[in-house]
Amino acid sequence: MLRGMPRRIAPSPRILVTIPLSAPSLRRLAAAGPVRDLSPRGGRPPLARLPEGARASVEAILCTITDRIDGALLDSFPALRVVSSFGVGLDHVDLPAATARRILVCHTPGVLTEATADLAFGLCLDAARRITEGDRLVRAGRFHGWRPDFMLGAEVSGACLGIVGFGRIGRALARRARGFGMKVIYASRSPAPREVERALGARRLGLGALLRRADIVSLHVPLRPDTHHLIDARALARMKPTAILVNTSRGPVVDEPALVRALRAGRIAGAGLDVYEREPRLARGLARLDNVVLAPHLGSATVSTRAAMGRLAVKNLLCVLAGRRPPNPANPEPIGSPPKKNRAPGGARRSGLRRG
Ligand code: DGY
Repeated sequence: MLRGMPRRIAPSPRILVTIPLSAPSLRRLAAAGPVRDLSPRGGRPPLARLPEGARASVEAILCTITDRIDGALLDSFPALRVVSSFGVGLDHVDLPAATARRILVCHTPGVLTEATADLAFGLCLDAARRITEGDRLVRAGRFHGWRPDFMLGAEVSGACLGIVGFGRIGRALARRARGFGMKVIYASRSPAPREVERALGARRLGLGALLRRADIVSLHVPLRPDTHHLIDARALARMKPTAILVNTSRGPVVDEPALVRALRAGRIAGAGLDVYEREPRLARGLARLDNVVLAPHLGSATVSTRAAMGRLAVKNLLCVLAGRRPPNPANPEPIGSPPKKNRAPGGARRSGLRRG
């Protein structure tokens, strides 16, 4: 600062933002009060770096799935009213802790359904037809011409697709599978309405039966204590040796070292993964396997979907600051709705999926 110049004091922030947002979104937020934009300057979660003094005035945080929001962090923001997360998954937020502090948590379901189902179906095709494996081979100069027995994969058309978790994204995947003449079976804690099952030609089975029957198993459950390692060594052993596992949900739903062992031993034929147990790190040996396709958490990564997520996260936040009900509260208790059903003691909801 030059001597003699008046010192500009940054106003105390009302809103904190941890991700890069579009200029229009930032302007909409700024109309509601001073915004502090912490969006990425490094690997560490920026929220934890904010000096204590700057936390006192913060009423709203717009964060994302890589920000850990636990009781201790919430306690360090005494005026906090809303955490609006850019993303659908909520495993990074301690919801009971937020509810106990009467802090509303919002997320962005709905707008990323189609993009995520597209990616899941892409991974089904890629892993079954060995597209990425073939790409590596061609680039390495190991393609020596067409042969009738070269790089044979599994037929996707007409195969049996097992969808684990039959919410929005699972159903959107089923719609795609219909177009490929696939047989669709699903496992979920509660049955889908009859008309949905009929429209999608989908039949509900227990997880064990699904794993035994499906040619491709695609995971669409949220990460909760009861879905952690839902696909473990035992579940993998139930799958066909020709089967493919696709995961676009959350990494810890799969026991990744067990998956590496199963892929290496040929206990299942292949996998397509978009998420990892200790993201962004991979289980030892995973990257060396040829029968797995590895995507860098791209489920919702399209230009239009990410823009829609940003708009919805901003809308959720602004509604709460304006005293209105936001479109997507994840813990409606602080604004007076009855507590969610199906919540197990300790705040974890039960999936109703019996383990494979
Ligand atoms: C989510 O929203 O939870 C995804 O994992 C990122 O889009």
